[in-house]
Amino acid sequence: MLVPTMGSLHAGHESLLRLARREADRRGVPAAATVFVNPTQFNESADFDSYPRDLDRDALICERCGIDVVFAPAPEVVYPPGEDHAVPVLPDVATRPGLEDTFRPGHFPGVCQVVSRCFDLCDASAAVFGEKDWQQLQVVRAMSEAQRGVRGRLVEIIPGETVREPDGLAMSSRNLLLSPEARVEAGGISEALFVAAREQDRDRAQGVLADTLLRFGIDAEYAVLRDARTLLEPVPRSHTGGPGVPCRLLVAARVGGVRLIDNTGWRGGAAEPT
Ligand code: PAF
Repeated sequence: MLVPTMGSLHAGHESLLRLARREADRRGVPAAATVFVNPTQFNESADFDSYPRDLDRDALICERCGIDVVFAPAPEVVYPPGEDHAVPVLPDVATRPGLEDTFRPGHFPGVCQVVSRCFDLCDASAAVFGEKDWQQLQVVRAMSEAQRGVRGRLVEIIPGETVREPDGLAMSSRNLLLSPEARVEAGGISEALFVAAREQDRDRAQGVLADTLLRFGIDAEYAVLRDARTLLEPVPRSHTGGPGVPCRLLVAARVGGVRLIDNTGWRGGAAEPT
């Protein structure tokens, strides 16, 4: 049971680590975490350089959460010189226009490369990924299914719920980089998602999302409603005649120079936002 991380662990990770511990116990397997700031998934070297790192603290947190093994490899272990660890074939969900790939080209190829390597190096049978990175969760799920034949088995992907600060801001290692003013502004992202999630009408939900972000002075890279699994534009309920597919409201925005992402479920105003 694996929890891949880039370290700088916070309460959101702790919840994933504890989930991994419980799932590992259920299956009678060890629970492991990887701590590796993967250079191939950053498209700006300044972003890679400034990524917070504190391995000693991370190891203590893993221990506290009952993790058996912490694997913090050097880059040469993940990508041994002379060995070709090609980027796996990208699932379609990785390249949906207007989402991560539009604003961080090369990010998902790097994520798929490192996650696939970590699965193999740790011989993982299952892995936990946070819902905060919703598109990443769909990407690794699709990648794992696509690699089932090559690997000879499916690495089961287990989603972990987003943990939030009291004002709603989703826990993220990047929150440490926010100035006090930016930290206040950042609260507008979850506020906008939660207000929009209560709207019954699809177009109104998107409108309210955009308006609330603007009210907080947040200029989003994207603020959209998509089918939760495929991340395509959702088919309107009136076209299917059914209850409608689960949808997701997704936001990415730079606040005080720090890129933040968040999302929540939308069921036509019916579900409580998470
Ligand atoms: O979500 C993350 O922290 C990273 O993208 C991951 C999955 C650990 C791969 O480096």
